[in-house]
Amino acid sequence: MRIDKFRYLAAEVISKALEELFAGSSFAEISLDSKNIYRRLEPPKDPKMGNYAFPLFEAAKILGKNPNEMNRQLTEIENRLARGEKEFSCLTFQAVGGFNNVLIDGVALAQETIHTILNAGNDYGSSKDGQRKNIVIDFSSPNIAKPFGVGHLRSTAIGGSLYRIFRKLGYTPVGINHLGDWGTQFGKMIVAYRRWGDDAALRTNAVRYLYDLYVRFHKEEETDPGLSEEARQAFKAMEDGDSETLALWQKFKDLSMAEFNKVYDMMGVHFDYQTGESFYNDKMEAVIERLMKAGLAEVSEGALVVDLSRFNLPACLLRKADGATLYATRDITGILYRWETFHFEKALYVVGSAQHDHFRQVFKVVELLEEAESLPPSEQISPRLFHVEFGWIKFQDEVMSTRLGNIIFLEEVFAKAIALAREKILEKNPDLKDIDRVARQIGIGAVIFADLSTRKEKDVNFDWSKVLNFEGETGPYLQYTHARLSSLLRHYGNMVKPDIDFRLLHHPEEERVIEFLYRFPMVVVEAASIYDPNVIGAYLLGLASAFNKVYQRKDASGRIDKILSDDEALTAARMALVSSVRTVINEGLSLLGIEAPEEM
Ligand code: ARG
Repeated sequence: MRIDKFRYLAAEVISKALEELFAGSSFAEISLDSKNIYRRLEPPKDPKMGNYAFPLFEAAKILGKNPNEMNRQLTEIENRLARGEKEFSCLTFQAVGGFNNVLIDGVALAQETIHTILNAGNDYGSSKDGQRKNIVIDFSSPNIAKPFGVGHLRSTAIGGSLYRIFRKLGYTPVGINHLGDWGTQFGKMIVAYRRWGDDAALRTNAVRYLYDLYVRFHKEEETDPGLSEEARQAFKAMEDGDSETLALWQKFKDLSMAEFNKVYDMMGVHFDYQTGESFYNDKMEAVIERLMKAGLAEVSEGALVVDLSRFNLPACLLRKADGATLYATRDITGILYRWETFHFEKALYVVGSAQHDHFRQVFKVVELLEEAESLPPSEQISPRLFHVEFGWIKFQDEVMSTRLGNIIFLEEVFAKAIALAREKILEKNPDLKDIDRVARQIGIGAVIFADLSTRKEKDVNFDWSKVLNFEGETGPYLQYTHARLSSLLRHYGNMVKPDIDFRLLHHPEEERVIEFLYRFPMVVVEAASIYDPNVIGAYLLGLASAFNKVYQRKDASGRIDKILSDDEALTAARMALVSSVRTVINEGLSLLGIEAPEEM
């Protein structure tokens, strides 16, 4: 199945026509082969003007022609070519000023699209283009012994979705949870626990308890500066392999992981590796040596740093004067390790925009290393590294910060969403079977969709009165549309067949839906290319609202033109459309990591 088949055909006709019009040398001058034209086809300003538009201004200028005149001649040839060959007969060309517009025949578009979807089912839009190449996705990556913050939630939602999107496109995604399980903050937690902690309390609600201790540490540190030194010592003991300190650290880690895993189970997220920062402990020394050998690392005030001032970046600290390594040291080591292990096509770091500079520094150090070692292009890693950054989530317009003790506990967010979803169900459909399961699906779906509902660079304003609205731009709205379509299909007996009369789907509302469906594979590719699942979320909202116009369409007498009617052929055609929309919403939601109940 070729992605965007009609665009490909259109480009072929246009290039043939250009060749005929400017036979010989002048055709070469404008260097417009069908591939080139394919890339330059754009959506027309007004969708009524057709499916694609090819602007002729540039070519006309090079050839010294009037674009309008050239366009008239060109469309004449194009339409002759299209009528002459069966493959192209679905296309009509129109000259509108300097725009060469292409119209796809509605019946051909409906047939191609619906047949493809009915055949492929949820595989619609899948491809093998990724050739199984590895895409490393570093996502979620919460910090041990600290609450799973809303920023980690957003990373989990975006990263988890990118994982599914790349897999659909034939890549091999490698999901890594780069847990924050090392660093000076553990020194603080260990000191706080030794001073004020209690094992029984720790075991009942580990993360919350450790978090409270951590907050207390910061408060008491203000009046008791000795605490800081003590914490530094404790972390040093960890780095030196002191077994008692490490046993405590391991306990914090195990208890935290058990809580994080609950969230991952709820969200249906899976990791291929849970290699946190501590995984790189025994690998950093070799990397530091490599950086020194390359002449990049220098000693400054006892610390080891890579100077990045000529790039307008703060120096990258590799090792403090007391010998302790840093977050950046572990990330640089991680990049080199992952490259050796996975030879990735790309490595994505799904981390909030607060770490913009951190990733610029770390990526720059890797780039400088490649230069210093004069690695051949095939061994260069830095062009493959991407910081997939995203904005904050704000609850009531407040940005979260763990340091200040101002934080939302994720389990509470989910619990509240599920409770609200349950209320909604009880109000709308109290007889629903399996209310618990559906309430979970809706509640969790609502939270995930809220996270993906804006372009990732933008902040999310999380508003409880909106995220669960069945009629708004929400996950539950999409789930609800999906459930309605499923119910229609059940009433129809799920007897959708592909041999239907596509001419019966001729209302503009239906044509609009078909155009949406046709675009789905392109939308998935687009989401992958800009690393933003929101592309799919926004598309699904558009598709659902386009379909609702079909659903509510009135006939000439002002009555709703029902989808299921006594007219068998008409019902069959409409149900094929219903089934196709259901499939695409189902698959689209699944790419976002959202379940789609059959009933709700
Ligand atoms: N644990 C970090 C934090 O919570 C995020 C880690 C992101 N991944 C990475 N390779 N640096 O801020």
